[in-house]
Amino acid sequence: MTVQKEHASPDVAGLNIRPVTREDLPALEWDGLFWKYRPMYARLFNNTQAGRTLMWLAEIKGELVGQVFVMLKSGEKDAADGENRAYVFAFRVKEKWRNRGIGSCLMDFVEQDLHQRGFQFITLNVAKDNPEALRLYKRLGYKVTGSKAGIWSFKDPHGKVHRVNEPAWRMMKRLR
Ligand SMILES: CC(C)(COP(=O)(O)OP(=O)(O)OC[C@H]1O[C@@H](n2cnc3c(N)ncnc32)[C@H](O)[C@@H]1OP(=O)(O)O)[C@@H](O)C(=O)NCCC(=O)NCCS
Repeated sequence: MTVQKEHASPDVAGLNIRPVTREDLPALEWDGLFWKYRPMYARLFNNTQAGRTLMWLAEIKGELVGQVFVMLKSGEKDAADGENRAYVFAFRVKEKWRNRGIGSCLMDFVEQDLHQRGFQFITLNVAKDNPEALRLYKRLGYKVTGSKAGIWSFKDPHGKVHRVNEPAWRMMKRLR
C-alpha cells in the first residue's frame, strides 16, 4: 500500500507518506546516525506484521526525509491500549528538510489514520530539553498531561545495552 498525502501547507512538492517495508530498514539508520537502533527497528518491524505497531516514512522523489512510528498496543495502557489510545514515537525529519511543514504533515497523516482505525487519543513523550518539539506539539493541539522519568534501554547491534535517561512530558490529543 502506498499512501499519497498532500497536506494543505507543506512547503515541498511531491511529499509521499507510506508504510515502512523491510527493504527500507537500512535507510532508517540515516547514514549511520541511528545504526544503534538496528535491533530495535527490526523488532518494531516484526511488530508491524503482528499489528501492534505502525511505521511510516515520508519521502520526496524516493529520498527518505522523515519518519514517525506508532504503538497501537503496549504494556503501558496509559500510552497505548490497542483500541482507544495510540502512542507516537521516533518522530523525526532530516535536518535539511525541517521547517517546511513536513513534520506537521506527518503528524496530521498519523492523526487521520488513527482516527480511521477508531482510536480516540494520541499520546506521546517529549523530552523536557526539547522546547522546539514541545512548541510544535502544542501548536498541533497536544496538551501536557503528566511528567515521565523517560528511562528506557536498548541493545545496539553489538549487544551492548544503552540506558537512556530522558525526563519527558507526556502529551495527549483527542482525535476528532
Ligand atoms: C520535531 C521535528 C520532527 C519537526 O519537523 P519539521 O518538519 O521541522 O516540522 P514543521 O516544519 O512542520 O514545523 C516546524 C516549524 O516550521 C514551521 N513551518 C515552516 N514552514 C512551514 C510550512 N510550509 N508549513 C507548516 N509549517 C511550517 C512550523 O510553523 C513550525 O513552527 P513551530 O516550531 O513554531 O511550531 C524536527 O524538528 C525534528 O526531527 N527534530 C529532531 C527530532 C525530534 O526532536 N523529534 C521529536 C521527538 S519528541
